[in-house]
Amino acid sequence: MRILVTGGAGYIGSHTCVELLENGYEVVVVDNLYNASEKSLDRIRQITGKELTFYQADIQDASAMHGIFDKEAVDCVIHFAGLKAVGESVAKPLEYYQNNIAGTLVLCDEMRKHGVKNIIFSSSATVYGDPAFIPITEECPKGTPTNPYGWTKHMIEQILTDFHTADSEWNVILLRYFNPIGAHKSGLIGEDPKGIPNNLLPYVSQVAIGKLSCLGVFGNDYDTHDGTGVRDYIHVVDLARGHVKAIDKLKENPGVKIYNLGTGKGYSVLDVVKAFEKACGHEIAYEIKPRRAGDIATCYSDATLAKKELGWTAEYGIDEMCSDSWRWQSMNPNGYDD
Ligand code: NAD
Ligand code: UFG
Repeated sequence: MRILVTGGAGYIGSHTCVELLENGYEVVVVDNLYNASEKSLDRIRQITGKELTFYQADIQDASAMHGIFDKEAVDCVIHFAGLKAVGESVAKPLEYYQNNIAGTLVLCDEMRKHGVKNIIFSSSATVYGDPAFIPITEECPKGTPTNPYGWTKHMIEQILTDFHTADSEWNVILLRYFNPIGAHKSGLIGEDPKGIPNNLLPYVSQVAIGKLSCLGVFGNDYDTHDGTGVRDYIHVVDLARGHVKAIDKLKENPGVKIYNLGTGKGYSVLDVVKAFEKACGHEIAYEIKPRRAGDIATCYSDATLAKKELGWTAEYGIDEMCSDSWRWQSMNPNGYDD
């Protein structure tokens, strides 16, 4: 089977390409390299010893996408491409709706024109908003996103569901990721944020390597075991393997399916700092700062459905997530830059 991976040069996409190649799939990557380096693709080749096809193209570019679908006999699309910085999306809503939503519409139009009706979409726990209950099952109602990024996930889920309603040949798997961290064991691929990281793990690892001086912990007065925010961190390799399992599911023509991809365990910011200190062997400087707007106290999954229906469960714990992040960070202090 040939899988078209949009955003395949990025953080989660690159790890998924490795798992796809190692499971015998042919991989075609489409990425405009807006937030990625082509070097990640060389590293994927190095890890797997296998070839993949790469098109540097924007999913919003209908004629480029048309040409790619004409040339490649694609069976299934895994759609990672998108802008993902929550704060930036508040300042640049037009860019986020244009890239994420209009891009998805162009992609799906070309899929339809070429008879490709199988898609796995990167959604997010952000669609639950401030969740109605915890642990969060897929039955938990979608909430109100607090930013345009979250709305793009919310809306794209609806758009893809409507495609299936209109044409039952569409199979759509919506994967709602919790908080992906970690890196491939080889230390060759990992998360490489541009500028100052917004997310916890890349920030912590840049403090650990000495590029940043001190972590700001956003609030210690939440109703959690130590007052800091609790999240369901999931190893990116586990997450990537969830996509391979989702392809197996697509082969059953399942219609629309939604799965949480998380571990079912919640760790606080300070738990993560401690685990990272253990991984890197020294202390991480931090100071308590005010709460960050839009953050919730606690978010973790009930991952039972993915286990039952996909036969997938996360294998790695917080210690491996931190030690693998640290290996990537220390082997590549400047990410993919020389
Ligand atoms: P990433 O930025 O590393 O990967 C996204 C990739 O898409 C990048 O390589 C970028 O260059 C590419 N891209 C963006 N717009 C494009 C376009 N118009 N055409 C072609 N390529 C384009 O991000 P990631 O962390 O790997 O996230 C992958 C997906 O998972 C995204 O859709 C993201 O919203 C979603 N997600 C991520 C997280 C997370 O915490 N990392 C959580 C939930 C959901
Ligand atoms: N945090 C800090 N300091 C930092 C960064 C984060 O204390 O410098 C805290 C946050 O307040 C939160 C926790 O660390 O309690 C995790 O924050 P992240 O920014 O790493 O992740 P979020 O849970 O806010 O959001 C992430 C992605 C979203 C996605 C969501 C759910 O950024 O895109 O997970 O999947 F929608």
